[in-house]
Amino acid sequence: MKKYITNFTIKRKTVYNSHYFSLVLQHPDVLPEIEAGQFVEVEVPGNKQVMLRRPISIHDVDSDANTMTLLIQVVGKGTRTLSQLQEGETLNLVYPLGHGFSQEGSNVLLVGGGAGIAPLLHLSKCLKAKGVRATILLGGRTEELIPVRDEFAPYGTVGFATEDGSLGEKGLVTQHSLFSADYNHIYTCGPTPMMKAVARYAMEKGIECEVSLENMMACGVGACLCCVVDSDQGHKCVCKEGPVFNAKQLTNWIIN
Ligand SMILES: Cc1cc2nc3c(=O)[nH]c(=O)nc-3n(C[C@H](O)[C@H](O)[C@H](O)COP(=O)(O)OP(=O)(O)OC[C@H]3O[C@@H](n4cnc5c(N)ncnc54)[C@H](O)[C@@H]3O)c2cc1C
Ligand code: FES
Repeated sequence: MKKYITNFTIKRKTVYNSHYFSLVLQHPDVLPEIEAGQFVEVEVPGNKQVMLRRPISIHDVDSDANTMTLLIQVVGKGTRTLSQLQEGETLNLVYPLGHGFSQEGSNVLLVGGGAGIAPLLHLSKCLKAKGVRATILLGGRTEELIPVRDEFAPYGTVGFATEDGSLGEKGLVTQHSLFSADYNHIYTCGPTPMMKAVARYAMEKGIECEVSLENMMACGVGACLCCVVDSDQGHKCVCKEGPVFNAKQLTNWIIN
């Protein structure tokens, strides 16, 4: 798939709380096809301490408006600098990167935790376009760490799990009443322990499962090897051969 290095204009910025914000980015030209689960490498403008681009999932795409949305959690200097950008400013992206979710399965569960919620909105939209209504389970330590909620409602049955019980059921996503063996395909993105628990459960129950890894990255295109995961077929670049992998390729990663 062809990659683009191009400037987008920040059309809309939404600040959800001190942890999360989103940017709707517009391009003058028609966007290429973007798979759910693909990501961009964002140049962090105006901060000489941040040399490397930052990988961010594509949260939403509006092909009619030539826009894509990024949902970003502020964790360090790069994301903090991005959070200070304003509407009308320019952001340079390399995109679309990596391989996305297969979009297979007729009765599917999407499990997202923290910033791992981001790629699941585009996925739930794509599944709906194929006639698949998903069950979407979103988790976080507290309510404010699940910044987007209503956006998912048109695309499936949505459940929430928070560790302090401030939103939805109290506990982990794997303890939620919607988390069961009723599905024939599970897609997950979020903190590594959560994805491993989800993938282990899916393997035990014989359910197809795809995980989207968020390893640290530098180049984003398979050149620097800093993002490798120890798959069952040897080392794989998460940026180029992932970030989405079938859990069956990662049994070593899942059990360790
Ligand atoms: C394919 C992919 C998609 C991603 N999608 C999103 C997204 O949609 N939204 C979002 O908010 N974040 C996403 N991330 C994570 C995001 O890239 C990092 O949070 C960001 O690069 C941190 O940059 P920083 O300069 O703010 O933090 P730094 O100053 O570089 O680091 C601050 C802290 O964050 C930790 N950190 C840095 N990178 C990662 C990482 N990849 N995973 C876990 N911890 C990390 C560091 O260990 C450190 O503790 C994604 C990562 C990958 C690989
Ligand atoms: S980030 Fe350079 S090879 Fe993946």
